[in-house]
Amino acid sequence: MDREFPYTQADFNKVRAFLLQLTGIKLADSKDSLVYSRLVPRLRKLKLNSIGQYIDYLGKHPDEEEHFINCLTTNLTSFFREPHHFEILSDFIASGERVERVWCAASSTGEEPYSIAMTLVSAAGSFEDAAHVIASDIDSNVLRHASDGIYPLDKIDTLEQKKIFFMRGKGSNIGKARVRPELRKLLEFQRINLFDEEYPVKAGLDVIFCRNVMIYFDKSNQEKILLKLLSKLRPGGLYIAGHSENFSQFPHLIKPIGRTAYIKL
Ligand SMILES: C[S@@+](CC[C@H](N)C(=O)[O-])C[C@H]1O[C@@H](n2cnc3c(N)ncnc32)[C@H](O)[C@@H]1O
Repeated sequence: MDREFPYTQADFNKVRAFLLQLTGIKLADSKDSLVYSRLVPRLRKLKLNSIGQYIDYLGKHPDEEEHFINCLTTNLTSFFREPHHFEILSDFIASGERVERVWCAASSTGEEPYSIAMTLVSAAGSFEDAAHVIASDIDSNVLRHASDGIYPLDKIDTLEQKKIFFMRGKGSNIGKARVRPELRKLLEFQRINLFDEEYPVKAGLDVIFCRNVMIYFDKSNQEKILLKLLSKLRPGGLYIAGHSENFSQFPHLIKPIGRTAYIKL
């Protein structure tokens, strides 16, 4: 394949080994072109001439690791993705369970934690009485986007409650909407790598959403992370996983209560 910058199979293998070490993300053999296209903007920015040079640069500049990770994460998300999970959260609250603190552990650009917060406000009946959401991700770019809370109008078009939770942009923000400050205030953003030894989150959480990120990790790392996440959840708390992340092999730890939704025992 003709490419602007030299890029070898050995380069790809080094990149994916380093990504695995930093983030636990396991890239399949088929992702070589994707890696190239994601790293090229960094090469241009740093005025480097090959992926090999970039790998050397990365080895000598630990500050570059954050950019490297930001380039290679996949951040696909949407408001109320897998809507049944938000119904389960509403039912959990309606059943009288205490819900004061929720952690959204791979929050990407914010659509998921804001969907959680909207569900909490609807369940509580007011912004003031709604629970607090910790939103975290390894990717600092998506966290910045999430913290700004600005989205193209077509992303919120189908949301029934858009008038309650969003304000239409004006001037340079025409065609966009911003989450209302009352909703934004319920969220706190933190950069957390799920592979970190310690999570800087107080234990006793009532709900954890950790969706569509475990799929990037191998089975043994999935188990390790699940155990660490569960150590932050109170007994009886709700754990929500992504649609292809099934944890039914841990019946002594969590009880399934719906599609990829569990209660901690
Ligand atoms: C496909 S998105 C899923 C977003 C959202 N949870 C959803 O289901 O719509 C996966 C997210 O996981 C994040 N991620 C990947 N590896 C991570 C790690 N080791 N620690 C924390 N977040 C990670 C990525 O940056 C990305 O934003």
